[in-house]
Amino acid sequence: MDSVIVDTDTASDDAQALVLACLTDRLSVEAVTVVAGNVRFDREVENAKYALSLAGAADTPVYEGARGPLLKEFEHAQEVHGEGGLGGDLFPKTGIDSAAGFAPDEIAARCRAAPGKVTLLCLGPLTNVALALARDPTLPELVEEVWVMGGAVNCQGNVTPAAEFNFWVDPDAAKRVVDAFDVTLVDWGLSVRAAVFTDADFERVGTMDTDLAEFFLDSMSAARTHETGDIDSVVQPDGLAAALLAYPPLRERVATYPVTVDERAGLTRGYTSVDVAGVTGEDAHTRVVEAADGDAFIDVLLAMLRDSDPDGALP
Ligand code: RIB
Ligand code: CA
Repeated sequence: MDSVIVDTDTASDDAQALVLACLTDRLSVEAVTVVAGNVRFDREVENAKYALSLAGAADTPVYEGARGPLLKEFEHAQEVHGEGGLGGDLFPKTGIDSAAGFAPDEIAARCRAAPGKVTLLCLGPLTNVALALARDPTLPELVEEVWVMGGAVNCQGNVTPAAEFNFWVDPDAAKRVVDAFDVTLVDWGLSVRAAVFTDADFERVGTMDTDLAEFFLDSMSAARTHETGDIDSVVQPDGLAAALLAYPPLRERVATYPVTVDERAGLTRGYTSVDVAGVTGEDAHTRVVEAADGDAFIDVLLAMLRDSDPDGALP
């Protein structure tokens, strides 16, 4: 069972990924670190604590990290997730204290204390991980795996034509992390192919009389109208990243390529360069999940919301 630190800019899809990571027996979430991204930082912190409490994991330490990207200016994505990040009507106040310590310091300390044992599941901009790397340049040798939801692999981005949100917010951090670590990438393109929650799926959730189902519907209400206009479906990128980490059988095709990120401001800010044809001659060390079992992923989410048992959806 992987010992996991979840780094998150907790809004609607992050929250579902956090619940999944806590409820599956395949992962052991030892800490949550919060990074600037989707919505106002203090709301992200409360959202993370609320999601953990819904998953029965309220005692999981939540460390506060970077309140902005390394260098760039950025905007939140409230239009996607609703004000506060959980649909626009949910503003939890858990009363739970954050753990003492700065998230990047904690990431580095925990990886140093357990070499080869800690996996990072990164669901937001990579600022905290880049800062942890700056604190301990040996981190790539200490960490077990680094799974990243981010980037747009040879496809249209979701915040500009060139870039996906997490990599656009902090392209400097994304470049440093992708260049330094052997990252496994779950990108926006894969999410659109394998992690779309349709109107029919929402209807199934509507028949479940559970707290998690109610939370899902509330927290997804804004994304449901924003993401695809009036078509009732929502992409679940962070949940997909968590599910692919937890359940290897869902990974249908994984390939390793030279990948880097454009950190420059302007048109191609946050662009993910993926050298599929090997024309750059660069070192291929980034694993890209190119295909995933989307049906199984949706079944995992539905089992989680219905039974609090995502593992029950799989043989
Ligand atoms: O582009 C999608 C990613 O950006 C997801 O992680 C979402 O939560 C936002 O952080
Ligand atoms: Ca996120």
